[in-house]
Amino acid sequence: MAMINKAVIEEVIMRTDIQSLISGYVSLKRAGSMYKGLCPFHSEKSPSFTVYPQTNSFYCFGCGSGGDAVTFIKQIEHLDYPDAVEFLARRAGITVIRDEKSFVPKEKKFDKSRMYSMNVDAANYFHRALFSDLPGAKEALSYFTEKRKLSLATIKHFGLGYAPDSFDIFSKYMISKGYTYEELVAGFLCGKSEKGNYYDSFRKRVMFPIIDVAGNVIAFGGRVLDDTKPKYKNSSDTPVFKKSRNLFALNFARHTSSEELILCEGYMDVIALHSAGFTNAVATLGTAITSEQARLMSRYTKKVIICYDSDEAGQTATAKALKIIGEVGLDVRVIVVPGSKDPDEYIKSYGSDKFREVLNGAKMEFTYKMDNILAKHDINLPHDKVNALGELEREISRVYSEAERDVYIKIVSKKFDVDAKSIKSDVERIINKNIREYKKSEEERAKQTVAGYSDKINPDFAKAPAVAKHEEIILALLMLYPEHRKTVFGENLLRIDDFFTDFNKRVFESIEKAYREFGDLPDFNEFFSPEEVGRITKMKLTRMALSANGDEVLRESISSLKSSMQKKNSSGTSTFEDLTNLINKMRGES
Ligand code: GTP
Ligand code: MN
Repeated sequence: MAMINKAVIEEVIMRTDIQSLISGYVSLKRAGSMYKGLCPFHSEKSPSFTVYPQTNSFYCFGCGSGGDAVTFIKQIEHLDYPDAVEFLARRAGITVIRDEKSFVPKEKKFDKSRMYSMNVDAANYFHRALFSDLPGAKEALSYFTEKRKLSLATIKHFGLGYAPDSFDIFSKYMISKGYTYEELVAGFLCGKSEKGNYYDSFRKRVMFPIIDVAGNVIAFGGRVLDDTKPKYKNSSDTPVFKKSRNLFALNFARHTSSEELILCEGYMDVIALHSAGFTNAVATLGTAITSEQARLMSRYTKKVIICYDSDEAGQTATAKALKIIGEVGLDVRVIVVPGSKDPDEYIKSYGSDKFREVLNGAKMEFTYKMDNILAKHDINLPHDKVNALGELEREISRVYSEAERDVYIKIVSKKFDVDAKSIKSDVERIINKNIREYKKSEEERAKQTVAGYSDKINPDFAKAPAVAKHEEIILALLMLYPEHRKTVFGENLLRIDDFFTDFNKRVFESIEKAYREFGDLPDFNEFFSPEEVGRITKMKLTRMALSANGDEVLRESISSLKSSMQKKNSSGTSTFEDLTNLINKMRGES
């Protein structure tokens, strides 16, 4: 087994924000102190996949997968344990050292610096092609200069290019430069047909190179010259490119003197804005904004102005972006260009001074939402007014800070000429109702998890459910509270033979071993499969709500385990009775 220094693993896990990590793969919605989304590990229609930021863990109540950041990456990227740790380390900017003798090079390791130079060569090729006699090049150049009104300076600045109308002229060129087909395919520059022929990924498209903040060419976007579909083709993720982690033109925008970044939807929006002097514009790469991109922006600015397309899709995306960008602590504002589809069109029709005015009128999140709600209703009509007020109250109830809620309540009170106290009490009622509903669904879930045990991971469970339940409670207490580990292992209160189920024996053994070796919990990912880690996570999570953790509860749990073992051994059956008593006691309602 390849070894990675334990301290490094801890550092990696500590520096990984699980919510932002998982947001790169799953669209998460806040639900109380947790986040929910559709599970990426099984197919489902309503979200049972839950992320717990406080404990840096996740658990799916639908399929039982769960664990920490390492478990998640192991499963989603199909990596083994050391590779998953290395993946996260790289993401967190930490250097990982593996044991010499156990280091196993991966089969397909691409030399990153070669991939970067391959992309530079490709970008140069596309750029030169734009001014060449290659098939379709004239048309491409006039697309940029005539149709999109770009200056040559802008074309040069952004390194725009053209991928010729040919099956493989570009690939052949790259091969002649010494790159292999394998590298070209890995870099998304080349595809392989069913017959085994290699073809250019980008054909007859104008090309937008994507450059990271370090100045590396990492990917490309290509647009058709007409109305054919798909309009844009973007590199998918490669060894040097992660869509969810980069922003178009941030390499330029990071040097801007502006206090804020302008976030747009499209390459052409950014290019139009930059050439009109707004060099602080960036765009996502054809996908919804991720937490990682929000965090990336937060490295360079404190304020982001969202300027998405003014159509319905753009506005829906704006609502999502507001949330994601706000969550990383950035000050977010919104503008919607009036009378145009997107900022590119707006600048072309009205010029940069007008755009500056729009920019100066950027709205705060709540004001933006309030104006949207007001636009949908005529508040001179009582019925409409009540509906609009209701929507606004729901909006306010989602605001975390009480002081902030008060500010909005005052605004709405004035606007609607309704007593602020009434609005405040409505808002509080909504908040309390949400809390009640949340608690209820948690209880339902707890019942289900106690009930449903046809169990592949711990097949012994069904043979003695009462015993196994006690085992799980004790293991949860050991995982949750270091002082319990000290008591149990210091006083030798439990031995492996006190456990009945093999799976729980293994869990206990690994906890004990780690405690004795380095006084902490083991990294379960190293010794257990992701499915097993899911189960261990569940043991812990489902008991987290039980607040009592005194010595007494621990000792009682241990004696309950021992006596249920005895009962089982003497009668061959077991009961849930003392288990229920214990749970009640832990809940403080005996
Ligand atoms: P034009 O002005 O027509 O060139 O496009 P735009 O810049 O206004 O882009 P649009 O609002 O249509 O789309 C925004 C972004 O989404 C584009 O810059 C692309 O990155 C991406 N996108 C648009 N269409 C497609 C598509 O068909 N496929 C993929 N993968 N991405 C697309
Ligand atoms: Mn456009």
